[in-house]
Amino acid sequence: MTTVVVPAGGLGTRFLPATKALPKEMVPVGDRPAIQWGLEEAVASGVRRAVIVTAPGKELIRAHFAPDEELEKTLEGRGSAELARRIREIGSLCNVEFVEQAQPLGLGHAVLCALPTIKGEPAVSVLLPDDLFSGSPPLLAQLIEAHTWEGCTVLALRRCPKEQISRYGVAAVEGEGPVFRVTDVVEKPAAEDAPSDLALMGRYVLTEDVFTALRTTQPGALGEIQLTDAIREVARGGRVVGVEFTGELLDVGTLDSWLATSVSIVWRDPELGPALRARIAELEASES
Ligand code: UTP
Repeated sequence: MTTVVVPAGGLGTRFLPATKALPKEMVPVGDRPAIQWGLEEAVASGVRRAVIVTAPGKELIRAHFAPDEELEKTLEGRGSAELARRIREIGSLCNVEFVEQAQPLGLGHAVLCALPTIKGEPAVSVLLPDDLFSGSPPLLAQLIEAHTWEGCTVLALRRCPKEQISRYGVAAVEGEGPVFRVTDVVEKPAAEDAPSDLALMGRYVLTEDVFTALRTTQPGALGEIQLTDAIREVARGGRVVGVEFTGELLDVGTLDSWLATSVSIVWRDPELGPALRARIAELEASES
């Protein structure tokens, strides 16, 4: 498996007005945009090719991954060789291709848009760039390893407190874990109807049978084609597992989650952390 599909064609409405012109996937977290963290995780997991699904008006994503020799030369000329190297690295992380989703018709539709570019691969990974992973081994690598053993579709599962479970897709599972057999998937259930406390997070390995199901999946709520509907069909046939992964997944899809994630990332950064802590101490002192 060499390809990761990165759906980035959504509207980002929960992060407006910041995301009116700036794609949600391009909001900076620490020193780089969210989507770059995602691609770095994929590359660290062994992926060699990324298909990014963009939308009209989201050209900044394409621009970020395009080589920029002029900028590199300018930086080198100014004695910033290290920064020039990091800029070059963005363009050479992996082979990046783009497909456009003309309308935001849902995550399942975004994955469908990428399918024509996936030839001869029995499985692909999918990474949602508005969830950042922190930990080791990389989350996508944990799923790919499970796929190597199980040979089927793999979901990323995280235990979720009851009061938050209705925000997520939730898996009905069998087994002891950390690798579970998934028998069903319920999208955003009421807390009392949730089949478990294992919520689906933004990483997947999808096999051919999910693509086949996706092609005939009818639009659900809000006219969107839901990826979980196609996964449910395959899960009911017994061909899906879920991994309760190790490590932390941090959301950047809303203003408050982005703030919390940014603080977590910068806090642990050896260069940026001290300045953040100093500023927080200063603010606390000025309040007291
Ligand atoms: P989200 O539902 O979190 O993103 O989808 P959204 O729809 O952009 O955000 P809100 O709910 O309006 O605030 C997770 C990922 O799937 C992509 C998004 O770009 C995001 O990276 N996505 C979503 C698509 O590519 N196409 C879609 O039609 C919907």
